[in-house]
Amino acid sequence: MSPFPLTRTLPEDATDAALRSDVLRGLTHTPRTLPPKWFYDAHGSDLFEQITELPEYYPTRAEREILLARAPEIAAATGARTLVELGSGSSDKTRHLLDAMPDLHTYVPVDVSESALRQAGEALIAERSGLHVHALIADFTAALTLPDTPVPRLVAFLGGTVGNLLPAERAGFLDSVRALMSPGDALLLGTDLVKDASVLVAAYDDAAGVTAEFNKNVLTVVNRELGADFDLDAFGHVALWDAENEWIEMRLRSRRAQTVKIPAVDLAVDFAAGEDLRTEVSAKFREDGVRGELAAAGLKLTHWWTDREARFALSLSMAR
Ligand SMILES: C[S@@+](CC[C@H](N)C(=O)[O-])C[C@H]1O[C@@H](n2cnc3c(N)ncnc32)[C@H](O)[C@@H]1O
Repeated sequence: MSPFPLTRTLPEDATDAALRSDVLRGLTHTPRTLPPKWFYDAHGSDLFEQITELPEYYPTRAEREILLARAPEIAAATGARTLVELGSGSSDKTRHLLDAMPDLHTYVPVDVSESALRQAGEALIAERSGLHVHALIADFTAALTLPDTPVPRLVAFLGGTVGNLLPAERAGFLDSVRALMSPGDALLLGTDLVKDASVLVAAYDDAAGVTAEFNKNVLTVVNRELGADFDLDAFGHVALWDAENEWIEMRLRSRRAQTVKIPAVDLAVDFAAGEDLRTEVSAKFREDGVRGELAAAGLKLTHWWTDREARFALSLSMAR
């Protein structure tokens, strides 16, 4: 029983069907791929929180710096009564926005991770009397139906998570976010910026090995949910910078030739020694590119803020 409304937008068997279809599609094509949303069971969500505190992982600190400096401006520019947050996770940085929005009526966190939504929602209603929380367990790449709450709305998408979508997926996603918005609503988008490759690679391949454990968690999820027999020790964590596409790729590299069985989808996958399974793309951005992608979706960028070292940007855009 949740002390706040927690709406599952898709039945649990639809989540199971989505995992089966992603595994079937992603592991029967080369290069082999799995979408990053499957990292985030309860353990994966905890591991991501640990990543945000690693010395190498600058994006969380850089975005927090911008939020701390700009939250009052964001509140004033949007006058938002509802804050919808896509991929909200722990909602930790969101607190800086909430602090600057005393008149906010409802916070709507949206995430695939039920454990993250429960923890964050329970903490927020205990901390902030008067704030309504209505959480959605949902895939933000699918059509969303938002609860009926006061307008205007601010839709926040923080953490650079938009970079996990490939360019064509991103265009479709921004179109669907725009379709959720009415005139007067705003989008606050966090984007990690292009920078020195060594800094980027270190952020996805930390010395303590937490990101490696996070990466392999997708195999644990497939083992548990689909009865697969992935041997986690038989795969190595790889982070590499694709300079042409300006994105980081996380991969799992098979340490030897092996066959993995996935009984729930009746699949046996042969991995060659050294063959990679791509588990995440994390695109890095430039201001012009972000402005152009937003414009293509019918959104006008009105503010662009970076941290002092210009590692990360927050942009505010309005529905046109
Ligand atoms: C990189 S983390 C960012 C978390 C938080 N926004 C931050 O800035 O620290 C991505 C978050 O998005 C969620 N997520 C990933 N793919 C998703 C999807 N397709 N639909 C909904 N949530 C998703 C994950 O569960 C996780 O909480």
